[in-house]
Amino acid sequence: MGRIVLENVTKSFGETQVIPPLNLTIEDGEFAVFVGPSGCGKSTLLRLIAGLEETTSGQILIDGEDATQIPPSKRGLAMVFQSYALYPHMTVRKNIAFPLRMAKMDQSEIDKKVEGAAKILNLADYLEQKPGQLSGGQRQRVAIGRAIVREPAAFLFDEPLSNLDAALRVGMRLEISELHNRLETTMIYVTHDQVEAMTMANKIVVLRAGHIEQVGSPLDLYRTPRNLFVAGFIGSPKMNFIEGPEAEKHGAKTIGVRPEHITVSADTGPWSGRVGVSEHLGSDTFFHIHDTGLAETITVRADGEVGFKHGDTVHLTPRADVIHRFDAEGLRIA
Ligand SMILES: Nc1ncnc2c1ncn2[C@@H]1O[C@H](COP(=O)(O)OP(=O)(O)OP(=O)(O)O)[C@@H](O)[C@H]1O
Ligand SMILES: [Mg+2]
Repeated sequence: MGRIVLENVTKSFGETQVIPPLNLTIEDGEFAVFVGPSGCGKSTLLRLIAGLEETTSGQILIDGEDATQIPPSKRGLAMVFQSYALYPHMTVRKNIAFPLRMAKMDQSEIDKKVEGAAKILNLADYLEQKPGQLSGGQRQRVAIGRAIVREPAAFLFDEPLSNLDAALRVGMRLEISELHNRLETTMIYVTHDQVEAMTMANKIVVLRAGHIEQVGSPLDLYRTPRNLFVAGFIGSPKMNFIEGPEAEKHGAKTIGVRPEHITVSADTGPWSGRVGVSEHLGSDTFFHIHDTGLAETITVRADGEVGFKHGDTVHLTPRADVIHRFDAEGLRIA
């Protein structure tokens, strides 16, 4: 079991409050992702849950039990960091076994658990090697293996993939999602990468300056961001924001239109502008359109290989049913 509830949790470092009173429930078996810009408090929140930081006030409940005063080693949670923190002189087997040896478990039981974890993580052939002989992705898997053998109530990951190159990140992202499907254990995963959040989470928690801007499934946040911050943070490329007369027509201070909800054409459409930079990805093309009179740049996504050139005049049609409207406070208008 691994249901985690934060009740009015705050955290101050000296005089500075970095987490104002915060309430959050993570259900047993959920994959929750904390996402937000650098310094917004993601790691602090994770460390509070782990018990590596003391809460200033409020309560942390793990499966209904008040864990606020329980030391980290007794909370039944396992943390995986960005730096793998493996012991370089120990084999993979010994690294994975480490927490079990500390707990004085039987050697035969340890072997069984280590081999089980190695199998899940495709490390079975590397058990007698040292971390120095492994790739970055394999090292990260060893660190995850060390967490798995503890059979924790929840896994806590703090940017575990940010040391890996882009291709490996995508691979490991899938592996961790696969692991979650298989173990069905609660996972809390910290990242500043909204694509990671969108692809891995059941529940995304968007943080800014220590407070929660929105909690929801990836598609909830994509479809109905509750304010301009979430609207701009979730989605890639970013949502276009338009103010002025065009927004007023919709009864809003600001309207938001995602690049994928604008059609670009040579001759028809209510908006027009000049093509600036185009990004040709093969599967998609992104055009950055200037001189629309709406915003400095309007970004548009087109399907496949679309060949407008720099300086071409093009017309744009936003999809009327997915225009997001925001008021003067930046809050979504229902
Ligand atoms: N030990 C500390 N002492 C004082 N301030 C701290 C301490 N740890 C974190 N902070 C402050 O708390 C705030 C949140 O930091 P935190 O590390 O949780 O951010 P983060 O969201 O994880 O950022 P990043 O994406 O850069 O890792 C920051 O303003 C940071 O400077
Ligand atoms: Mg951090």
